[in-house]
Amino acid sequence: MSDRILRLQHVEVRVPDLELCTAYYTEVVGLIEVAHDEGRVFLKCWDEHEHHSVVLRQAPTYGLDHMSFKVAEQPDLDYYTERVEKAGIAVKRFATAELGPGWGEAIRFEAPSGHLVELVYGMEKVGNMLPLTNPPPRPANLVGIAPPRLDHIFIMAEDVDGATAFFRDVLEFRLTEQIVANDGHQLATWLERSHTPHDIAIVTGPNGALHHFAFWIDDWNAVREAADLLAFNGVTIDVAPTRHGVTRGYTVYFFDPVGNRNEVFTGGYWVDPDFEPITWTEEEMGRAMFYYDRQVNERFFTVHS
Ligand SMILES: [Fe+2]
Repeated sequence: MSDRILRLQHVEVRVPDLELCTAYYTEVVGLIEVAHDEGRVFLKCWDEHEHHSVVLRQAPTYGLDHMSFKVAEQPDLDYYTERVEKAGIAVKRFATAELGPGWGEAIRFEAPSGHLVELVYGMEKVGNMLPLTNPPPRPANLVGIAPPRLDHIFIMAEDVDGATAFFRDVLEFRLTEQIVANDGHQLATWLERSHTPHDIAIVTGPNGALHHFAFWIDDWNAVREAADLLAFNGVTIDVAPTRHGVTRGYTVYFFDPVGNRNEVFTGGYWVDPDFEPITWTEEEMGRAMFYYDRQVNERFFTVHS
């Protein structure tokens, strides 16, 4: 059987200043510019093989255009088309490269939370900047934070239970952790397909909103180095290096020049398909989010894009 959905493939974010954001994402974050077309810039992390993992789109407002998950095999697109349509949601199909350079064959639909979701198969492979024979551990010419790959996306939904049910029941994501309110509803959930603590997380907030997207970095030292670089470059840091209770990950949160929240993330644990979800209570929400501070700053829930 196919693994079907493998992981987060890319995010496309709206940016009112494409030139400034391209400079930030290439020189400070350290992504690689692969291509551009009318109003869009296509970027990738150095260790990713596919054509792009972050697309910047010139637009009047900031926020998320769509998120895309990679499927393992072409028939997985038919499989999920049927499941999503059975849930009463319309699905649009796109041929290879119809959506842009390097793009695979794709389906798109709107999740109950109002987010545009894409599943894609067969992205163009451009290589990970290392040879496939006797490679060094890292390319020599990286700049900025230079995360090896995109890790996860964190979105907001008015009805976290409903959005979570869609990702679990229809797209077959597995729940790893949840914060449950005293009245029993889900305040936030973490879901995975890649055997990591999360590929997507959902927190209470306006439908369609982006809370943040996160890049993987290799260890705690890299979190410190990222924070050094952000401070040096005058980037607004939202939450300085710390540890999450949920996921057990290490983190720093910051904002791109137009207000989209970014994160670099490392740590966590390995998840088998029979993993039993972890529950945090409403009283322990602060510790769940930020284990040392044990409280969530006001911005964390009110500022999004
Ligand atoms: Fe995150």
